[in-house]
Amino acid sequence: MKVLVIGSGGREHAIVDALTRSPQVEKIYCAPGNAGIARQAECVAVKETDVEALRDFAVAQGVGLTVVGPEVSLAAGVVDAFKAAGLRIFGPTKAAARIESSKEFAKELMAKYDIPTAGFRAFTDYAAARDYVAGRSFPAVLKYDGLAAGKGVVIAQTMKEADAALRDMLLDDKFGEGKVVVEDYLEGPEFSFMCFVSGRRVWPMVLAQDHKRAYDGDCGPNTGGMGAYSPLPFVTAEDEKFALERIMQPVADAMADEGCPFEGVLYGGLMKTAQGIKVIEFNARFGDPETEVVLPRLKSDIVDIFCAVAEGRGARLEWHGFATLGIVLASKGYPGAYEKGREIGGLDAVGGTVYHMGTKADGERVLTAGGRVLFVVGRGKDLAEARANALRDVARIDCGHLFHRTDIGHWALGNENK
Ligand code: AMP
Ligand code: GLY
Repeated sequence: MKVLVIGSGGREHAIVDALTRSPQVEKIYCAPGNAGIARQAECVAVKETDVEALRDFAVAQGVGLTVVGPEVSLAAGVVDAFKAAGLRIFGPTKAAARIESSKEFAKELMAKYDIPTAGFRAFTDYAAARDYVAGRSFPAVLKYDGLAAGKGVVIAQTMKEADAALRDMLLDDKFGEGKVVVEDYLEGPEFSFMCFVSGRRVWPMVLAQDHKRAYDGDCGPNTGGMGAYSPLPFVTAEDEKFALERIMQPVADAMADEGCPFEGVLYGGLMKTAQGIKVIEFNARFGDPETEVVLPRLKSDIVDIFCAVAEGRGARLEWHGFATLGIVLASKGYPGAYEKGREIGGLDAVGGTVYHMGTKADGERVLTAGGRVLFVVGRGKDLAEARANALRDVARIDCGHLFHRTDIGHWALGNENK
């Protein structure tokens, strides 16, 4: 089978890597891909949002399965277009992807089906939102409703901060059409629970945890994620059962009942609070960088799973027992301004796995081409060993323009093994 993967980051590199392990795959294309992906797949110069060009490419090449990575492709309607053309594609339709693209849709679905999440109210009017926030306790959680690449959430400690954010979101309309969801503030460790979903069928993946802050100690600005690991010792089997039976399965059922059955990866961003496990957000796709630590642990043939989801058949998932821990190497300055086009050395000296997040080939050279550049994954019998292996490989990469966190996994490990 010929397979097309849409996207250009570490997540897509991990998907391509998993596909290379399937005996059913004859050829892998990736649009647009990156310098690391190009070592395992043929990169095609088509943008992830150019739906017509992607569809035409799949038809012309006889692609038997397309796998969608990023949300922008889902929001552009790539799944709808492929399905209309009779092509097999793994991912949710635009209507089903609203579970991620519209916070209000997600929150109302959870309220209607009694799925545990923070209490909320939605506002379009600035004065009404301000009055509501002023009458409540702080911190206040303000979420811009729409796709804002993880940048649309403000945790305001004071009314002054809340007011500035509300003005930004509702009056100055920084992101586009204005709507804000105001939520109760929750506390506890967060974790990511990704499930393959095909209508009412739900197959859980192993758990992972992302680290959103830029610097050690969970300090500094929010990013797209600076590292991840799996498994998670602080989430018990009982917690996992609750998350599956009270959150992920009911959401899949609710989507089917609402006439927009979900197909693809449903990603639950969950928090283990003192009052139990609650939903922070849903995504309609593989998480990045969680995928880069979860898929290496997948023992089953991923093509069987993708096809089972797309065709509504049964599948069985088996997992390796080893632990994985991955560290992002990001451009200095990220998530603010940073330089691109810097040469990366030492990649061939790395013993473990390196997924490319933002790189570009220049002849034989590999150059930085994004904020998050590389994702180095260590494996081990436990997380401590996986972290030591990841840090050893990070030290072998030679580029003075990158930085990384040294405490990935600290929720599970503390910092003593650094
Ligand atoms: P989201 O884009 O909804 O995942 O939010 C981004 C981050 O903001 C989450 O990963 C949490 O760390 C934090 N956050 C979101 N909602 C809440 C909430 N209700 N209470 C506390 N923190 C939250
Ligand atoms: N790691 C968070 C996300 O993929 O949205």
